[in-house]
Amino acid sequence: MGERERSAELYGDAGGYESYMGPWSTALAPLFLRYAAVGQPTSLLDVGSGTGNLLAAATEIVPDARLVGVDPSTALLHRARHRSDLRGATFVKARADALPFADGAFACCLSLLVLQEFAGRPEPISEMRRVTHASGVVAACLWDFARMPVIAALVGVLAEIDPVAGVRLAISSPSGEAALARAWAGAGFTEVSTSRITVMRTYEDFDALWRSLLCGSTPSTMTLAALPAGQRDRAYVAMRHRFANPRGSFPIAAEALVVRGKA
Ligand SMILES: C[S@@+](CC[C@H](N)C(=O)[O-])C[C@H]1O[C@@H](n2cnc3c(N)ncnc32)[C@H](O)[C@@H]1O
Repeated sequence: MGERERSAELYGDAGGYESYMGPWSTALAPLFLRYAAVGQPTSLLDVGSGTGNLLAAATEIVPDARLVGVDPSTALLHRARHRSDLRGATFVKARADALPFADGAFACCLSLLVLQEFAGRPEPISEMRRVTHASGVVAACLWDFARMPVIAALVGVLAEIDPVAGVRLAISSPSGEAALARAWAGAGFTEVSTSRITVMRTYEDFDALWRSLLCGSTPSTMTLAALPAGQRDRAYVAMRHRFANPRGSFPIAAEALVVRGKA
């Protein structure tokens, strides 16, 4: 059950984020880009770009687009800026609800695993529309947390151990396809559609999964790391009970929701 030094700041540990969520977001990125069907745009803005996994997929799928990422996390931006596969991309420190760009500055605007940070507030969605050309695609992808077994199990276990934390973590859950479509239509998008994407990750054993949880730097993994040792041991036992596979490695499938519209 080893633990390593980590930043106590939300999204403040790029290596920890990558170990916990990187393979998941890397698997989602090309599927989300294909769903978004942005064509071959001149420019693409990634809102909440994190360590750059979506933009890395964009270098393959929309190779001629000018790529820009925004994120408020200094640690994740640093990691993205130093990726050899993202030398042509530009990264800006900014929040999704106050994008530092002119109206219509981008041909399309995407966001992967970020909207849950806003608990249903509309500002990031209207900002994404504002900075996109008229008729440009704006799309978002976020976990269906009930069908993302790692997060669902962790939040469930944390709620049993610390009901207050359970309530806090549940509030940030997204609210399904119909609500996403309403949010997009309410922000003024046309041709709104939603869908689902399924991705798979194989963990080499339960301890590999557990180690990734201990360094995650996301709301739920930080809650786990902050538990007193005795409670964290209870969480280990409960998670092991849910996931342990006596044969070693095991795959987990997870579902994400996607929404798309035209600005
Ligand atoms: C789950 S991570 C997803 C990162 C990246 N898009 C990916 O798929 O790996 C959530 C991201 O949202 C960013 N974030 C948190 N609050 C934000 C805000 N107010 N505006 C924009 N991004 C935010 C975090 O810094 C983090 O990079």
